[in-house]
Amino acid sequence: MNQPAKILALISHKSITKTTTISNLSHSLALQGYRTLIIDTDGVPAIQMHIEQNKEVTEKRIIKNKAKVELLKNKGRAINQSLLDQLEYDEFALENRPIVIARSLYELDAQFDVIKRDYAHFDFIIVDVPAKVLDSKNNPIKEIKRLISFSDLVITPYKGDTQNAVTAVTVSGIIEDLKYDAVSLGGKFTTKVRSLLAFDPARIKANSKEVSANLTLTDTSTTAARLARNAERKALKEIDRKSQIDADIRAFGDAFGEHQKPLEAPLIFRSIYPNQFNKGQTIYNATTESAKIAQAEFNLVVKAILEAIAETSVVATAQNESITN
Ligand SMILES: Nc1ncnc2c1ncn2[C@@H]1O[C@H](COP(=O)(O)OP(=O)(O)OP(=O)(O)O)[C@@H](O)[C@H]1O
Ligand SMILES: [Mg+2]
Repeated sequence: MNQPAKILALISHKSITKTTTISNLSHSLALQGYRTLIIDTDGVPAIQMHIEQNKEVTEKRIIKNKAKVELLKNKGRAINQSLLDQLEYDEFALENRPIVIARSLYELDAQFDVIKRDYAHFDFIIVDVPAKVLDSKNNPIKEIKRLISFSDLVITPYKGDTQNAVTAVTVSGIIEDLKYDAVSLGGKFTTKVRSLLAFDPARIKANSKEVSANLTLTDTSTTAARLARNAERKALKEIDRKSQIDADIRAFGDAFGEHQKPLEAPLIFRSIYPNQFNKGQTIYNATTESAKIAQAEFNLVVKAILEAIAETSVVATAQNESITN
């Protein structure tokens, strides 16, 4: 990419997976060879600490695996391919690792041009913001308004439940105000806003009648048959939950899509996420089956984000409220 860095900000005023998503997004981008700068504007430097810790963890694993390779070589023993693959994967991830700097929202606002110039060779600048970015009247603080205006893409994460509709209304109001401000000053509002809907499948009840009706395996005479039947039931439940998630994404799109079109891929809650973050790990470091599922699901989110950035935007201008640029 020879273009200036694309600026992404994740904004929501509740603790709702922003920092975790930025960690995984930046690592996924690194593995695709993109250079990413993260700007940590949270007073508690969560993402900064995490990224630094992740670097140390990766460096240690590289040293350990290199020593293993050396030892096997010296003993004249065969070197396992998966060990070499892991080493290569880690070295690539380390070389392209996301870089993180900490600035307050106020400093970021004041230094934005300098930062963009200093990191001009980066592909993405991702901004992690603290939870409290709204004032007592639910209006965004001045710096967050400016950050939204600077950004190419603002991602607003929501837990896919009705409570978050209140937040969605607030965010839609903010976008509407920003558009109005930009247009009344004779400018343009070019920032794209996409919602990232997060779902916990464990909390979504599968429709048992539907699942039973779709079961094709009916034999329960042997243990093997019963196991196969249970596996089919489990898979059908997962499909049913997925269709409920898709319906919720469509419903959100119908209600808020004008200002916050939802990203097509949802963020799925999986038990692997929380502890990975605390240990300086990411879902991209682990090799377990559950990590692979989380990676596959999150890769779709990354793809949807990259597509949203690339999409031609509808711009509000002074002359014409809505034209396509
Ligand atoms: N996909 C996921 N599956 C399961 N748990 C998750 C997932 N993403 C984040 N979490 C957990 O949810 C909690 C909140 O996440 P996180 O700190 O990333 O949110 P945040 O929006 O940055 O919060 P804040 O607004 O306080 O900065 C953490 O415990 C995190 O580990
Ligand atoms: Mg956070």
